[in-house]
Amino acid sequence: MKHIDTSELSWDDWDETKRPAPETTDFDQVVEAAVSRRGFLSGLLAFGSGAAAMGMLSGTSSQAAMASRFGFNAIPAFTDGTVHVPDGYSWQVLSRWGDALFNDAQPHDPATGGTAANAERIFGENTDGMELFSVGNRQIIAVNHEYVNPKLNLPQNEGGKPTSAEDVLKLQNLQGVTIMEVDQTTNGWKIVKDSPYNNRITHNTPMKISGPAAGHDLLKTSADPAGTTVLGTLNNCGSGRTPWGTYLTCEENFNGYFGSTDENLELPAGFDRYGIDHSSRYAYDKYDARFDLSKNPNEPNRFGYIVEIDPADIDGTPVKRTALGRFKHENAAVVLASDGRPVVYLGDDERGEFLYKFVGENAYQVGGDTSKLLDEGQLYVAKFNEDGVGEWLALTTDTTGMTDAMIAIHTRQAASYVGATTMDRPEWVAVNPIKVEAYCALTNNKNRAVKTNAGGDETPVSGPNPRAENNYGQIVRWYPDADDHASDTFKWDLYVMAGNPTVHNDAYAGSDNINEGNLFNSPDGMVFDKNGMLWIQTDGKDSNEGDFAGMGNNQMLVGDPITGEIKRFMTGPKGSEVTGVAFSSDRRTIFAGIQHPGGTFPDGVGSPRSTIVAITKNDGAIIG
Ligand code: FEO
Ligand code: CA
Ligand code: CA
Ligand code: CA
Repeated sequence: MKHIDTSELSWDDWDETKRPAPETTDFDQVVEAAVSRRGFLSGLLAFGSGAAAMGMLSGTSSQAAMASRFGFNAIPAFTDGTVHVPDGYSWQVLSRWGDALFNDAQPHDPATGGTAANAERIFGENTDGMELFSVGNRQIIAVNHEYVNPKLNLPQNEGGKPTSAEDVLKLQNLQGVTIMEVDQTTNGWKIVKDSPYNNRITHNTPMKISGPAAGHDLLKTSADPAGTTVLGTLNNCGSGRTPWGTYLTCEENFNGYFGSTDENLELPAGFDRYGIDHSSRYAYDKYDARFDLSKNPNEPNRFGYIVEIDPADIDGTPVKRTALGRFKHENAAVVLASDGRPVVYLGDDERGEFLYKFVGENAYQVGGDTSKLLDEGQLYVAKFNEDGVGEWLALTTDTTGMTDAMIAIHTRQAASYVGATTMDRPEWVAVNPIKVEAYCALTNNKNRAVKTNAGGDETPVSGPNPRAENNYGQIVRWYPDADDHASDTFKWDLYVMAGNPTVHNDAYAGSDNINEGNLFNSPDGMVFDKNGMLWIQTDGKDSNEGDFAGMGNNQMLVGDPITGEIKRFMTGPKGSEVTGVAFSSDRRTIFAGIQHPGGTFPDGVGSPRSTIVAITKNDGAIIG
């Protein structure tokens, strides 16, 4: 760690520096394993494979017979520094990192990076998951700020390294969550400054801890001897929403914020699995003792959860729902089972980690008490079998030998114990509103068939993870048995395998619904619209060369689950990831997040800024 500049690494690459790949990998051997599986693949690819020469095609004749459900003409790939949308659509900026939420706040000052106090009154950095809520006739967006670029926020400091408590506090205040009212004015979409709903939730906002882990010894600290309250939420990645109108923010790479000022500190058992060690990305541990493991070894056990926030209750206290497990949470896709119980699908985004499901014990009733619906219930982890069927394995004391509290805290270890399927980095889950099925973006996994996950579980080429050294990613889909999301068994197939048929003629060409016109890699954000069309956002390589030739910048595509057809709707600026998507109340605007753009996006001058763009159709029609 001391020999490389880690400040520019992505979060998963930063984790990877701690467990470098073995050098003995036999690439030919693992590719052979993937390709020889073509018989298997043809059965489980919903829309065949791009490698027609391999006899992997399955029928897509229904495609031609159906009228297109796409409301736009696909756009080509772009490699430039701006946003592109289809003919007949327009985009504009809704909010940028540093925009004031209140009239007395100062917009971001690139020369100084601003003050810590001001940082919690502006739109934070690195926009990610978001949801729009209608509260009366107001529209409120809740949106995550996943992480910060210290060099841009601490421009006077060498390498952007914090050198004071004030520096750390500034970074803490630029992350977390923004709640903001937005309005479509005659001059387009704007933040409603000083709206009574505007709020920032940061790394220091007081929260309650609920569920099985609340009050456990491993959650107790000197500042919170009861283990039931915590300050802040970390690395807020994807999002979710409940049928009762609350926002779910998901703590992903929380491990990176903790470090130890004592280099020789012996770390507690179980920290390895979560990548918690002596090194910290932002030197929080040096200036805020809460993040120093040598002083507060239990503090990391209080992060890695789903946090529920009521965007309509400015005075409310966010709640960490430990029943939904502790891992690197991507998003939280909530749907009601046939009997009204909440079901929450949850991905753990790390190479070789798992896909989870929570099923509540009590049904949601409109107007009823919702305060415990995400506290009482059963957590499951997915096991995918080769033959297109799978099961949800319950994580209980009987199946794991662990108490409910320990399962909630050391969830990864519990899931390994029951033999869950190691996945290619589960990112967002999306649930189809018009059919009982769900989708998970498996973004990529260069370690597939190369090395184990952090817990030592093997990652063979198998099931919904059919390619070794998978740099393209795929989307797995499952159909709960009995058409009930509470069912503990399901059927599955692959909705799409991303790939490049212009470069490869094997499994790396991708599935049959991939063609020269819709090339992409690394699916990540996903949401369904009301018509049952799947909006797919990407966070992948944008080199546009070699294996990635023709893919251009990261983008947003739309998939039809019925025909398999996928069309490119939007491209982001070079260097960016497209993440976070929400519709306005009237569904005539779609909001998309542009995270970590390069160049000078969106202003054309100065530093690039993460931005939410608002996309409308020029004729004002409904988009999704
Ligand atoms: Fe923050 Fe897995 O994306
Ligand atoms: Ca993501
Ligand atoms: Ca990603
Ligand atoms: Ca990201």
